[in-house]
Amino acid sequence: MTVANVTVDGGRTEGSATSYRAGIIGTGFMGEVHARAIRVNGGEVAGVVASSERRAAVAAHTLLATRGYAAVEELLADDAIDVVHICTPNYLHYPLAMAAIEAGKHVVCEKPLATNPQDAVRMAEAVTARGLVGAVPFIYRFHPMVREAREMVRSGGLGRVVLAHGSYLQDWLSGAQDDNWRVDARLGGASRAFGDIGSHWCDLLEFVTADPIRAVNARSATVNAERGGRSAVETEDVVVLQFETEGGVLGTATVSQVSPGRKNRLLLEVSGSEASISFDQEDPEKLWVGARQGSRLLVRDPDVLSAAAAPYAGVPAGHPQGYQECFANFVADTARAIGGQTPDGLPTFADGLRACRIADAVLRSAETQAWTEVES
Ligand SMILES: NC(=O)c1ccc[n+]([C@@H]2O[C@H](COP(=O)([O-])OP(=O)(O)OC[C@H]3O[C@@H](n4cnc5c(N)ncnc54)[C@H](O)[C@@H]3O)[C@@H](O)[C@H]2O)c1
Repeated sequence: MTVANVTVDGGRTEGSATSYRAGIIGTGFMGEVHARAIRVNGGEVAGVVASSERRAAVAAHTLLATRGYAAVEELLADDAIDVVHICTPNYLHYPLAMAAIEAGKHVVCEKPLATNPQDAVRMAEAVTARGLVGAVPFIYRFHPMVREAREMVRSGGLGRVVLAHGSYLQDWLSGAQDDNWRVDARLGGASRAFGDIGSHWCDLLEFVTADPIRAVNARSATVNAERGGRSAVETEDVVVLQFETEGGVLGTATVSQVSPGRKNRLLLEVSGSEASISFDQEDPEKLWVGARQGSRLLVRDPDVLSAAAAPYAGVPAGHPQGYQECFANFVADTARAIGGQTPDGLPTFADGLRACRIADAVLRSAETQAWTEVES
């Protein structure tokens, strides 16, 4: 473990014990969230790269980074950085991650890992070949009540899983003028709503049930065919999905970025032969546990959570914890992996590849209007 003196916020110096010296590429929404999560774990935001040298300098100040770099090459050549966090638009994930791996850095790469499965395969193979950690922030895995749900399935508390369903709904692209780089397939990938948020839902389903999706039957719609000055939007606003798992469980999911009033409503419900569970990401302190008699609402409390979930409860009961703490938990587990441990449930590049394969099957199914197997 090295000890770095980190100069932060107008020259204030903090002694910070850290073996997590991170460089962040891309300093928008996710770059800021990652920076906070790194610092809260005692790590160092050693440097940042933004879309220009001037923006990197501004972001270095805002994100309390040690320095801003003019170019990615400078960050990758710096021995002061052990792990690179890639928080850029999706089309840059593949080239940036491959360059970071080539430079011998561990990599945290935002989802979707790549814009196609072929690139994701190369990324997963490259980290393995170099003995590096490659992690992907499927962040909802790090809610304590998700861990509790997973433990209930694993320990048999639900009985035999018989059905899974849910949705991931947002509204930030519901207006015809709403626009973002994600709308452009060249920057975000061919699948937008599914690649962006449906991938989270499927990851959470497979994480909680440990039962991979075998085949999908998807339909998609582009509700706003013109948007923000674009005349022919190619990426989808909505996906409705039927699926069957390897274990023979049937399910459905609805994914939308055009549902007014729904901000980030990820809902996952799993029915078993004995009990059901339902988790709502916008109300993450609670887990509904359904039963023929005596349904109950389990409220997050580290004193009563299972041993698998309690470590992810960072604050006592009654003090709500949420999204940012998920990232803190994720970075803590990534640091453990870099330290040689194998944290249970850390989403790796293999999981990122898996999500790319599901997105690819969804695209193919929507095009052919047929049930389509997910490549394994
Ligand atoms: N895990 C999650 O919960 C989660 C949530 C939101 C977004 N994401 C993912 O994070 C990534 C970033 O999304 P965001 O919402 O932060 O987007 P954003 O638009 O807020 O930020 C992207 C940043 O990348 C910068 N950028 C663009 N090109 C660059 C380049 N060549 N070099 C350096 N910086 C460059 C942009 O200037 C911008 O600041 C996406 O892949 C997205 O899918 C993940």
